[in-house]
Amino acid sequence: MRPVLVTGATGTVGRHVVAELQAAGVPVRSAVRTPPAEPDADRVVFDFTAPDTWADAFAGIESMFLVRPPELTRVRSRLLPALAAARDQGLRHVVFLSLQGAERNRVVPHAAVETWLRRSGVGWTFVRPSFFVQNLIVIHGEDIRDRDILAVPAGHSRTSFVDARDVAAVAAAALRDPAGHAGRAWTVTGRPAASYGEVAALLTTELRRTEPGRTIRYTNPSVPAYVRHARRTLGLPTPLALISAAIYTTARLGLAAGVSDDVDTVLGRLPLSLAESLHLERAAWARPSIPAKGRQE
Ligand SMILES: NC(=O)c1ccc[n+]([C@@H]2O[C@H](COP(=O)([O-])OP(=O)(O)OC[C@H]3O[C@@H](n4cnc5c(N)ncnc54)[C@H](OP(=O)(O)O)[C@@H]3O)[C@@H](O)[C@H]2O)c1
Repeated sequence: MRPVLVTGATGTVGRHVVAELQAAGVPVRSAVRTPPAEPDADRVVFDFTAPDTWADAFAGIESMFLVRPPELTRVRSRLLPALAAARDQGLRHVVFLSLQGAERNRVVPHAAVETWLRRSGVGWTFVRPSFFVQNLIVIHGEDIRDRDILAVPAGHSRTSFVDARDVAAVAAAALRDPAGHAGRAWTVTGRPAASYGEVAALLTTELRRTEPGRTIRYTNPSVPAYVRHARRTLGLPTPLALISAAIYTTARLGLAAGVSDDVDTVLGRLPLSLAESLHLERAAWARPSIPAKGRQE
């Protein structure tokens, strides 16, 4: 069996795609930018923007999990040339990590990738997830763990969250059965959508299992206050702070609450609930416990 090339293999979704495929006995070639410390036949150094890394990564590859790295916004010049090279080297099927609603939103870079794939002659499956639960770690982890706050300018509207594990499971199903998933677009969400006030309450419940009295507060800042906080306190680069503010504004307007049952359709099971996801990720927000003898009397 030829290996599946997994791009973004160190990322939020890609790491679970690698695990899903390996658990199913599918050979995986993980594409990574940093060379492994020890020689590793299952890893290949790959960068979408470094053509000298492409030939080795694509050698013998027929199927690929494609992640558009968040920092690559200009996909026509920085991502699609690598895909064209992969096609020329024999790529036959791409499972693309797109975005919920990419079919209606021509501004997002994912739309250009979808359009290219539709015209490429390569088979494709689009996995279009809603908002990752793991953003509560990647962007807001420090606030929740160290300050007991969830600072998001999303008002009281609901957002449709999804666990990266469910996104990866749908992608892996498509990678294992390209013929069954070719030309399909799956909108991958959890259910039901939740407000950030509800998320803070669920985080509180989860953390109180071992840290009685802890309360996570949803602060619902204004957009300018959020951007200031994201830049100065969380250290987000300004473009990322602005993009995330725009995403939360979309949520505030009630446009991010759509849910689907595609996880059930593809996997034959329900998506993880928000409470289940928060339980699985609780270590990210837990305060390190102080050993008894180190405590001040
Ligand atoms: N966050 C959400 O809620 C959400 C929802 C729907 C869709 N999405 C989409 O999901 C995608 C991101 O997926 P993710 O969150 O799993 O990724 P991620 O955690 O942000 O990780 C990005 C991955 O891309 C790799 N990478 C970065 N630059 C690269 C380059 N020039 N060449 C090759 N690889 C490179 C990184 O490798 P290194 O280890 O080398 O850095 C890392 O593995 C984005 O397109 C985003 O729009 C996100």
